[in-house]
Amino acid sequence: MNNEDLFKKIISHSKEYGFIFPSSEIYDGLSAVYDYGQLGSELKNNIRSYWWKSMVQMHGNIVGIDSAIFMHPQIWKASGHVDAFNDPLIDNKDSKKRYRADVLIEDYMAKIEDKINKEVDKAAKRFGDSFDAKMFKETNPRVLENQQKIDYARNRMVETLEANDLAGVKSLIEELGIVCPVSGSRNWTDVRQFNLMFSTQMGSVAEGADVIYLRPETAQGIFVNFLNVLKSGRMKIPFGIAQTGKAFRNEIVARQFIFRMREFEQMEMQFFVRPGEEMQWFEYWKEQRQKWHLSLGIPNSKYRFHDHDKLAHYANAATDIEFDFPFGFKELEGIHSRTDFDLMAHQKLSGKKLQYFDPETNENYVPYVVETSIGLDRMFLAVLSHAYCEEELEDGSTRTVLRISPVLAPIKVAILPLIKKDGFPEKAKEIMNELKMEFNCQYDEKDAIGRRYRRQDAIGTPYCVTVDMQTLEDNTVTIRERDSMKQERVSIEKLSTIINKNLKNMMYRP
Ligand code: GAP
Repeated sequence: MNNEDLFKKIISHSKEYGFIFPSSEIYDGLSAVYDYGQLGSELKNNIRSYWWKSMVQMHGNIVGIDSAIFMHPQIWKASGHVDAFNDPLIDNKDSKKRYRADVLIEDYMAKIEDKINKEVDKAAKRFGDSFDAKMFKETNPRVLENQQKIDYARNRMVETLEANDLAGVKSLIEELGIVCPVSGSRNWTDVRQFNLMFSTQMGSVAEGADVIYLRPETAQGIFVNFLNVLKSGRMKIPFGIAQTGKAFRNEIVARQFIFRMREFEQMEMQFFVRPGEEMQWFEYWKEQRQKWHLSLGIPNSKYRFHDHDKLAHYANAATDIEFDFPFGFKELEGIHSRTDFDLMAHQKLSGKKLQYFDPETNENYVPYVVETSIGLDRMFLAVLSHAYCEEELEDGSTRTVLRISPVLAPIKVAILPLIKKDGFPEKAKEIMNELKMEFNCQYDEKDAIGRRYRRQDAIGTPYCVTVDMQTLEDNTVTIRERDSMKQERVSIEKLSTIINKNLKNMMYRP
């Protein structure tokens, strides 16, 4: 199955099994907005709780908050979002389609990168085991020529964007011969800056009311509460403040299902450190976040780090953890060394001192910040795209299985009476009533047992507990593991211990 087909299947599977629905579907939907269904909201809650447990509860020096979405408009002035949270947009006059100018250039570079990869794959097949990919890339004239094209495009893009030279960005698009993917023409408008914040008015009438913004990131809610948490929590540097919540961006091109949305959720943590120590913490958080991702059973080959070509207005170092989505490697999480930019800016505009007295150095200073920021919806998509699998079984049949980490699975245990009579359902419900105190369980007695197993595989349930004749005799059940499909007979009273032990062994530990 190619990646395009895989992506289509993931989208339709999500809808069929109640993970994700298009928003407002009975009114023909709303572009780039989605609703989470009965299983989707369980999975989303589990990702959020796992992140919270890992980042807040597993670290003695990180606390969590929940700040409001509406905030004082000056916050977005201080943070730089009013002036600088822009994307460069360009329209094609023939197709009337709108694009992000930098994304057009990135797509151009990705196409050339594809050519290089094909060249390397071809050579690897030709030369077999003796093939040295690194040496090939450094010496093959066609690869070198293509690499030069990428480097040129990247350097010019960064140069023009950093200088806010929008005419330069347009010239580059023309010079590279980039055509509109829809019309195929090079009939472009000028490049313009477009602010991504949604605004609305607070107050009952527009006249005299304040314009406020829907937050484009949750981070600012943390910065403006820095002093409150510092004092009330008696925090000592280094320490972190975390929060999860909705963020809104008026994306020019929202696409790729839940990858780029206009309303989405972030899970962010700001780690406050001594100035000068930020790079060491930046490296620490890169390592820890990678460890967190790997704890979910997704292999390392699905991830890569990508250092930013163009740093955001607040950062002195930044890297993305990219994930291999069905449409290629794309940003999943950002790790940013934000310096003292935000606290300094709020200190200046609010007139309130946002400083820390360090008892070890006897100094007052504005701490530096290392941030980890991941989109909850993007993580959902990463989990789902890795998990979806159509598997051929030994008997020639196929099954669709979601290999979601048991830690995140929406339903942890399915309780299945082998038949619908003779006291089996009563016994199964008795087990269910105990287990549901600890795990999200589902009871299912409809259809043959094989079909019920398939239904649970398709929604990623890691454990199926089956009640059979022997259960009534000796209080044992079979427990079936989703991926191996192996069944083991265990006593009912051990179920909770077995499942808890398995889950605990998989969890992230800092
Ligand atoms: N506070 C820093 C910040 O917001 P960002 O790189 O703009 O940094 C962080 O966003 C993360 O939020 C991204 O890595 C991505 O996972 C998620 N994200 C950003 N824009 C998004 C969108 N339009 N739809 C879904 N997720 C998005």
